[in-house]
Amino acid sequence: MKVGILTGGGDCPGLNAVIRAVVRKGITAYGDEVYGILEGWKGLLEGKIERLDLNKVSGILHRGGTIIKTSRTNPYRKDDGEKAVKKQIQSLGLEALIAVGGEDTLGVAAKLFRAGLKVVGVPKTIDNDVYGTDYTFGFDTAVNIAMEAIDRLHTTAESHNRVIVVEVMGRHAGWIAVHSGIAAGADAILIPEKPVDLEEVCQAIKKRHDRGRDFSLVVVAEGAKVSTESCKEGKSIVQRTELDQFGHVRLGGIGQFLAEEIERRTGYESRYVILGYIQRGGSPTAFDRVLGTRFGVAAIDLVHKGEFGKMVCLNGNLVTSLPISEAIGRPKLVNQELYDVAQVFFG
Ligand code: F6P
Repeated sequence: MKVGILTGGGDCPGLNAVIRAVVRKGITAYGDEVYGILEGWKGLLEGKIERLDLNKVSGILHRGGTIIKTSRTNPYRKDDGEKAVKKQIQSLGLEALIAVGGEDTLGVAAKLFRAGLKVVGVPKTIDNDVYGTDYTFGFDTAVNIAMEAIDRLHTTAESHNRVIVVEVMGRHAGWIAVHSGIAAGADAILIPEKPVDLEEVCQAIKKRHDRGRDFSLVVVAEGAKVSTESCKEGKSIVQRTELDQFGHVRLGGIGQFLAEEIERRTGYESRYVILGYIQRGGSPTAFDRVLGTRFGVAAIDLVHKGEFGKMVCLNGNLVTSLPISEAIGRPKLVNQELYDVAQVFFG
């Protein structure tokens, strides 16, 4: 079978493990010809593809990023984008397509499936917010990078008696913030699911300083919202209001805002750090290499079982699948039970 694979949206550690697994199992177990579509949906619109053989995927398991590149191109933002994609698939002779991506990429995959294309999805995002899977690969790596950074910031915060606010990724959900914050012993963790009440944060920090700890570490997800008197549900802080092709603004800046507010309200010297793309770059953890590998193998198996319109997922410790349409349109949010655990250690 002639199978195409593409990676869309923000890159994340573990993508190469998926690509390698699809190619290895596709060629050795099914005799497939596998093609990498370059730069996500962009490559499909422009017909940019590359044959992936066993040697092409050798030595990539430990590498971050994606050897077939990625983009945030949305074919549905182009006039006749769907038609163009279908035409390319036909002229390239692709009989099935594996789309690896988050909510946006999977959303396109679901639409193309409804339009008659044979698509299988693989969920991916460091944010871990794809509904229908317990974990996405990339998340564990990001959490470990953030945890290490917070550990390092701890020692300098303590030496200088400072409050340090660490801004981590997490557009809709605060998984990275909560996991890295619990793992590194953060004194407050702010996430998009719970609008930030500045007074509460300051009270928690004051309580801690009153009992003799003169430094604090605050972890905030980039998508956390600040609530005000006029806007109780909270407002995000954005770096750029221009929308990308999937309608997202560029978030960023809540760390600085918080640090300045905390210093103004408490009088404690404060600093901020934005971890940004460091969380997405570099080598995947063992967990992400294994999950990516399992997802890749399961995806090519779904193709050969003819189970199109589905995406692979992790259910407890089992890799299973569900219709892509059931996973999109609602992010998987941090549950109250986990946040309650984090809260025990605030202040
Ligand atoms: O992939 C999700 C994510 O990590 C978000 O947390 C973040 O807002 C976004 O990517 C930023 O990515 P880019 O700047 O590449 O669009």
